[in-house]
Amino acid sequence: MAASQPPSASSREFERDLVVIGGCGHVGLPLAIAFADRGANVAIYDVSESAVESVNAGKLPFDEPGAAPLFERAVATGRLHASTDPAIVGTAENVVVVIGTPVDEHLNPNQTAIPKALSGCAPFLRDGQMLVLRSTVFPGVTALVEKMIATLGVEIEVAFCPERIAEGKAMTELFELPQIVSARSPRGLGRASALFGRLTDSIVELTPEEAELAKLFTNVWRYIKFAAANQFYMMANDRGLDFERIRTGLTTDYPRAADMPGAGFAAGPCLFKDTMQLAAFNNNNFTLGHTAMTINEGLPLYLVHRLEQKFDLASMTVGILGMAFKGGSDDIRSSLSYKLKRVLEFKADGVLCADPYVKVDENLLPQDEVIARSDLLIIATPHPQYRGLVTDKPVADIWNVLGGGVRV
Ligand SMILES: NC(=O)c1ccc[n+]([C@@H]2O[C@H](COP(=O)([O-])OP(=O)(O)OC[C@H]3O[C@@H](n4cnc5c(N)ncnc54)[C@H](O)[C@@H]3O)[C@@H](O)[C@H]2O)c1
Repeated sequence: MAASQPPSASSREFERDLVVIGGCGHVGLPLAIAFADRGANVAIYDVSESAVESVNAGKLPFDEPGAAPLFERAVATGRLHASTDPAIVGTAENVVVVIGTPVDEHLNPNQTAIPKALSGCAPFLRDGQMLVLRSTVFPGVTALVEKMIATLGVEIEVAFCPERIAEGKAMTELFELPQIVSARSPRGLGRASALFGRLTDSIVELTPEEAELAKLFTNVWRYIKFAAANQFYMMANDRGLDFERIRTGLTTDYPRAADMPGAGFAAGPCLFKDTMQLAAFNNNNFTLGHTAMTINEGLPLYLVHRLEQKFDLASMTVGILGMAFKGGSDDIRSSLSYKLKRVLEFKADGVLCADPYVKVDENLLPQDEVIARSDLLIIATPHPQYRGLVTDKPVADIWNVLGGGVRV
């Protein structure tokens, strides 16, 4: 465990160890479950009535591998309770904020989303609490929140400790990844380290400004790497070459290139929007980030363009397999499968879609029906179920799920 500090006199007055604001979300709920599993008494404050109801009934509102047994135990033992009443924020020593921080339709970040969400809870904030920002924020938001807290007349420490898990791996990564913690005062830093020391021994201390950029750089780095691979893919593919054969060849026993990703849709609720947050932070002077966006967001268009050259799409029904933004997930937020669907609806005679995980889209059809009724199939999400797919229909497989190469 990281060096922990003795509880303050006030901390003994709190009924709970922590409350997670936005704790029914994809990041907040695994975090709440992880702390409860480590013996903490955890509350959730969330504005989604249906999600709060689901959590209190012991039902996960979305899939997260490995979460169910820990979650059910935490709810059954009373260590995890959710509420839509902001008063619950006053019951815990640590207040962790993990609400969503999307960009708007013009790709502008919303710098005031977190202060606004917090203003609804402000009457319940109390002396002795620590406020931990866990959302991915626009740089400077921690300082803005510190300023806002200073006007409330309560003694509260503010920390910024970014979440770095990937959806689908939360229940292992929360205990295995180093936790970046930051706060302005040594005491705040000590408290944040002690809190996240409940999850892991590996604590990395930064200043709030360093930590804000560390989180954005982490996501944007990944997005740019995917874009590089996707551009290499298009270059090779245009010349009739199989990028996957080239990638496998160049990475074989060659550690300096070992992290080159395969081609595929780089989508989801984080990488794109965090690249746009960083671009806005740098006054939109971010050539690499904007280029990465053009490449990654352009891949579905490129794919349809290639298919158009090979097939008479206007007379064909195209089946899309996989609507989630990544393999093994039920999350369709910012999934490029839907962009692919939109473009094909314009070009093809018909488009049918299936996904073995997604439950929130009533237009999806059973996989067997999609395969039977389609003239051409596209694997848009690399779900493991597709590995054994057997069909005599042509399949576009830029992920190499079927192992037959990625040429389209
Ligand atoms: N999804 C990921 O893989 C991931 C990974 C690391 C970091 N992050 C970051 O974590 C943050 C949360 O992302 P997410 O994917 O969990 O979002 P989400 O939309 O799944 O969850 C957000 C939750 O906050 C609730 N909420 C919204 N406004 C609220 C308010 N004013 N008060 C209380 N609750 C409120 C929503 O009802 C929802 O349950 C974002 O900043 C994101 O960038 C996400």
